[in-house]
Amino acid sequence: MIKISPSILSADLFEIASKVKALDKAGVDYIHIDVMDGHYVKNITFGSNMVKSLKKITSKTLDVHLMIKPVKLYIKEFIEAGSDIISFHPEADPNTDEIIEYIKENNVDAGIAIHPDVKISDIEKYLSKVQQVIVMTVLPGFGGQKFMNNQVYKIKELFNIRKKNNLNYKISVDGGISNITAKECINNGVDILAVGSYLLNQDENEYPNLLSNLK
Ligand code: DX5
Ligand code: ZN
Repeated sequence: MIKISPSILSADLFEIASKVKALDKAGVDYIHIDVMDGHYVKNITFGSNMVKSLKKITSKTLDVHLMIKPVKLYIKEFIEAGSDIISFHPEADPNTDEIIEYIKENNVDAGIAIHPDVKISDIEKYLSKVQQVIVMTVLPGFGGQKFMNNQVYKIKELFNIRKKNNLNYKISVDGGISNITAKECINNGVDILAVGSYLLNQDENEYPNLLSNLK
């Protein structure tokens, strides 16, 4: 069953609450929260306070995507803010194993996100330890970018590795997802679609229709 994780990055800050409530009502599964620090990526969005505020208005799974460097310093506050899944980019911090363990010890699902320039072989050693792997199909940093078809093979590769080694991480795809590009990702074995501008740039009344076109 494909899960939808709408990214609030493209929403006007003052419209986030109403859009999240509309997405919640429309039946999304997660809320994807893109945290950017202006250091790992050339953009700054919001911090753990956004997670804390969203926790008050939705019971959907808070799917936090950390595009920050370093990572270790900030994990505790994202756990305490109420994150349900915390995914980060392994190349952004030398303490990847320790961070994964710390997230899991605190009953939060741990995830890694794969930058387009990072190969599966670079992160394969973490796959037995995480509950989610995000395949980035845009360069991290901004919403509304063009889908990178040349990243889709990673979904298939992760699907095959999981099957061969009897692992249990969920495969998420993030960046440029629309009713067109979603199909190719689903056909290659993705479990979760992180969707930004395709949903958040549209009128809230359109959400049920847009969601049904994704699956
Ligand atoms: C990009 C973020 C994505 C982005 C998706 O760095 O990780 O989650 O917000 O937005 P769209 O769907 O518009 O590419
Ligand atoms: Zn993201």
